[in-house]
Amino acid sequence: MIKIKVPATTANVGPGFDTIGIALDLYNTITVKKESEKREFLWPDGSEPFPPKENLILQSCQYMLDKHPDINIGFSIQMDECNIPISRGLGSSAAAIVSGLYAANYLLDNRYAKEEIINFATELEGHPDNVVPAILGGMVISTTENESVLFSSVTFPDDLIFNVMIPDFKLSTSLARSVLPDSYSRKDCIMNISRVSLLINSLVTKDYEKIRPSLQDVIHQPYRLALINDGGSIMEKSKSLHAVGEFISGAGPTLIALTQDSGKHFKEAMSQYLSNLSDDWRLEQVRISLDGTTSEVIYE
Ligand code: HSE
Repeated sequence: MIKIKVPATTANVGPGFDTIGIALDLYNTITVKKESEKREFLWPDGSEPFPPKENLILQSCQYMLDKHPDINIGFSIQMDECNIPISRGLGSSAAAIVSGLYAANYLLDNRYAKEEIINFATELEGHPDNVVPAILGGMVISTTENESVLFSSVTFPDDLIFNVMIPDFKLSTSLARSVLPDSYSRKDCIMNISRVSLLINSLVTKDYEKIRPSLQDVIHQPYRLALINDGGSIMEKSKSLHAVGEFISGAGPTLIALTQDSGKHFKEAMSQYLSNLSDDWRLEQVRISLDGTTSEVIYE
């Protein structure tokens, strides 16, 4: 029996659309047990948020098992902790896909290496920016080349805190992708290429004054902010509170502001601001997760 722990992730980080992702210190955990015949999935406390057909953990587990039709193996998967909010831009679907693939790999006696799991996960998710940091931890730049994922980890400053502002409403990634244009002008492309390059170097060299201008983006954020009630004003408030910078987390609707050290003043003032909005927003402070997905064997 094993326990699998997968972190939340924030993708894009401003201009790095479908490319940059960071694992966060917030986790989902499942326990996987080999069984002779039955195949079952148990939610915590008897809850059942998704029917089996929409359960991404089961689907991705089955996806890997289907590559080995000769092996007939049963399993019991127990969802233990579900801390990553669903459809909020914090990588809940990536976490589910990665959990299911790790579960299947355990059932198949760990026949796949991490790099192969990264490729399967990217195929299932459609883009690599959440699944790669969810597996590896830390901040990762990813792209695909000949149907394989190329990735490179970047050192993220250890004194930056993620102020994660999560609303009570959901935003589906498919809707948030559907509002994006099919093509961009050369000027827009140059804008994002320059900003993302500046962002990586500013983070690596801890050149915090350049992070705010580096987070500017014309590929996705302007279109998506319109889908996030009060998103623009929260970004403005964050700026007035002197955060290092702010961005939409993944496809939204969660927003993230980076602050240095404890960000105590930011947290108090922003929480007060959020409490006056028409939707319910909560603010959680988290750090980067460097571990990525871990599995621990539990002896029965
Ligand atoms: N890069 C993806 C997007 C992340 O912005 O659509 C969300 O899954």
